Amino acid sequence: MLKILSHPSQIVTVDTNGLNYKGGSMLRELSILFDHSIVIEDQLIKDFIVNSEADKLKSKAGETIDVKDKVVLPGLVECHTHSAFTGSRANEFRERLNGKSYEDIAHGGGGINTTVQSVRNSSREEIYKNTFKTVNYFMSQGVTTLEIKSGYGLDFENEIKLLEVINNLKKSSSITIVPTFLGAHTYPIKYKDKHEKYLDEIINKMLPHISKNKLAGFCDGFCESTAFSAKEVDMIFSGAKKLGLDLRIHTEQFNNIGGLEVALKHNAVSIDHLEVLNENQIELLKGKDVVCVLLPGVSFFLNYQYAPARKLIDNNLITALSTDYNPGTSPISNLHFIMSLAALKMNMTIEETISAVTINAAKALKLNQTIGSIEIGKYADFAVFDTTDYSDIAYNINRNLNYMTIKNGQVIYRTN
Ligand code: NIG
Ligand code: FE
Repeated sequence: MLKILSHPSQIVTVDTNGLNYKGGSMLRELSILFDHSIVIEDQLIKDFIVNSEADKLKSKAGETIDVKDKVVLPGLVECHTHSAFTGSRANEFRERLNGKSYEDIAHGGGGINTTVQSVRNSSREEIYKNTFKTVNYFMSQGVTTLEIKSGYGLDFENEIKLLEVINNLKKSSSITIVPTFLGAHTYPIKYKDKHEKYLDEIINKMLPHISKNKLAGFCDGFCESTAFSAKEVDMIFSGAKKLGLDLRIHTEQFNNIGGLEVALKHNAVSIDHLEVLNENQIELLKGKDVVCVLLPGVSFFLNYQYAPARKLIDNNLITALSTDYNPGTSPISNLHFIMSLAALKMNMTIEETISAVTINAAKALKLNQTIGSIEIGKYADFAVFDTTDYSDIAYNINRNLNYMTIKNGQVIYRTN
């Protein structure tokens, strides 16, 4: 069936000329179409036609979706979240306001392990219900693809429980959910001083089960002094790779302890955080086919330095943005606000923030061949905004201008 997305004020295509990512100065080029409508057929983008032609085609189309005076973007891609959890860490926020650091709290057995306690005590239904609300909140912003990590189970039973809940959401949700295994989030309290035992559980028990049951396509790891050493991540990545999983990493968040180098050695798909990335490491990254996922919400919430977005882009690297939504370091689930933060605090242009939450975020999930830009042949995933100019999205801080979310050509969310 033919559908027409009719008479938008702008179509922000984020066109890549078939390259399917944007590095360096390309992030600024959004290829905007005016006076055009989009033809959709069988879930895919079939064509762009001038509005006068669209008017003629309307009688043959099965459905016309009127988006007059609205801006159409590719469906937004949220490529890094820890949305599957229960409980609140507001008490740790209070402790931080009284002078304790995030790392102090983690060293004292709080932080990630506080949420682990809550998740272990929660049923699948409770976790599902909580996460479902988050999925819907992202959908209301125009997000059509959402990555969700495990990482608050930290033992076989509970990591698998989280991944099964995420996979249930994947089945029932109208947006695409991408599950990632993050058993290597931190050491569970039980194995704080017995690292080899937990590494063994991850490599020889969790990973084979996850691979066999196809519970996740990605394996992530947190390389940090409060979590896993570079050598430990190296072991986990070797195991995951053998089982066919793709890799991503949390690294250079507080300290440089070798995570970036291990990620490059294993050809990780994305390298996330990078707040303390140094000049030598930028040299290492140059020319590499890897996405740098920046998470300015974490710097905002923890009140510390931002990742060097400008330097990364000016060195031609492929940069994406995400909320990192999680209860400890980024209780921020508003991707538009992250675009505003990136512009204000990391000197990214409005155009660069759009490429960073569409095509480059899609590349971080290895989905950039089929989504992330409005190009003929890609899935008809769109975020439609109630404005006539795309600059309003990042400018209207904290106001959700999304009017309609379209997934595979179907309207899955619309405001009243
Ligand atoms: O991405 N860096 C590690 N993991 C999360 C924090 C999770 C938590 O504190 O619960 C992050 O910042
Ligand atoms: Fe994270």
